[in-house]
Amino acid sequence: MNTSVSIKDLSLNFGAVSVLKDLNLDINDGEFLVLLGSSGCGKSTLLNCIAGLLDASEGQIYIKGKNVTWEEPKDRGIGMVFQSYALYPQMTVEKNLSFGLKVAKIPQAEIDKRVARASEILQIQPLLKRKPAELSGGQRQRVAIGRALVRDVDVFLFDEPLSNLDAKLRSELRVEIKRLHQSLKNTMIYVTHDQIEALTLADRIAIMKSGIIQQLADPTTIYNKPRNLFVAGFIGSPSMNFLHGELTNAGGKTAFVSNGVTFSLDGYQTEQSLQPGRKVVLGVRPEHIKVNENIGAEVHEATVDIEEPMGADNLLWLKHAGHTMSVRIAGSRRFAPGTPVKLSFDMSLASLFDAASEDRI
Ligand SMILES: Nc1ncnc2c1ncn2[C@@H]1O[C@H](COP(=O)(O)OP(=O)(O)OP(=O)(O)O)[C@@H](O)[C@H]1O
Ligand SMILES: [Mg+2]
Repeated sequence: MNTSVSIKDLSLNFGAVSVLKDLNLDINDGEFLVLLGSSGCGKSTLLNCIAGLLDASEGQIYIKGKNVTWEEPKDRGIGMVFQSYALYPQMTVEKNLSFGLKVAKIPQAEIDKRVARASEILQIQPLLKRKPAELSGGQRQRVAIGRALVRDVDVFLFDEPLSNLDAKLRSELRVEIKRLHQSLKNTMIYVTHDQIEALTLADRIAIMKSGIIQQLADPTTIYNKPRNLFVAGFIGSPSMNFLHGELTNAGGKTAFVSNGVTFSLDGYQTEQSLQPGRKVVLGVRPEHIKVNENIGAEVHEATVDIEEPMGADNLLWLKHAGHTMSVRIAGSRRFAPGTPVKLSFDMSLASLFDAASEDRI
């Protein structure tokens, strides 16, 4: 596979503050890569370095094999879409779309063709004569995407393009961005702190913390095999259940013990040896705990504390041996607070982390 954008040993400092540290990232041609992380982790800084809006302190950036580290933004073959749409308020939608092309002295016939194509893809033809003030937030964001589209670029950069929109519009435009990628097949780099956007849009997600990529993988791997405790806790809502304890030996087999309760680890896959005595954290997602069904040999008694019916799903908060645990079950299954239940854990889908290093075992 060809590399579209390649970031090599990139560091960026604002004065004495180091925001990106020795960052390496290769993005494939046509890939949808999502940069995910909490506020201040350096997502926009990285995107702005790729765009050429910020100069790298150290390292290089290659786009389509060409070293663009010191190129002007306009010469990098990128189109950027911001959270604040940054449209020209005094210009019509049509002018907003064509203005950059006029400045670049593209022939009028070509401009007309590109504007027509972009407005068809984004379904904004009826809006071409309006000004931004006469558009809804979703329509404005569509025009902002259109402005990147007409530039005929190799790489699209999106910085939280949906975060100013209400929840319904956000999920609608999310689908449109996915459709756009499926039809254009351009490389897209998309910054968000919204894990649902990341999971639904990405071919691969790079999860960042304090300027360092914690894990780079496809959404399924990130969700099912988080590389460390940070990634495990960041993805998933409600969060993975974390039990602190240690490995032990039960009947000749390795098991996990926490608050005096032993859990079989049958089915847990790892290359590492599970030494008894090692301090670990067991992580289990709410949907990987069964309540009163398919109970295997090992039964854990618990009590329903709170029920949160969510329509399709029902979220139970349970008390189990001094832990509070969340469990996701079908919305049709209801449990009154105080009901005793039997739990079984699917260890083939669980995660174990070393308590000291916080890395996956
Ligand atoms: N011009 C600047 N001068 C000094 N520090 C800056 C500057 N721009 C950003 N920072 C700092 O760099 C860090 C990363 O900022 P960045 O904007 O990349 O975060 P982000 O991940 O995009 O966050 P958000 O989700 O809030 O947009 C932050 O701690 C921020 O305060
Ligand atoms: Mg940002």
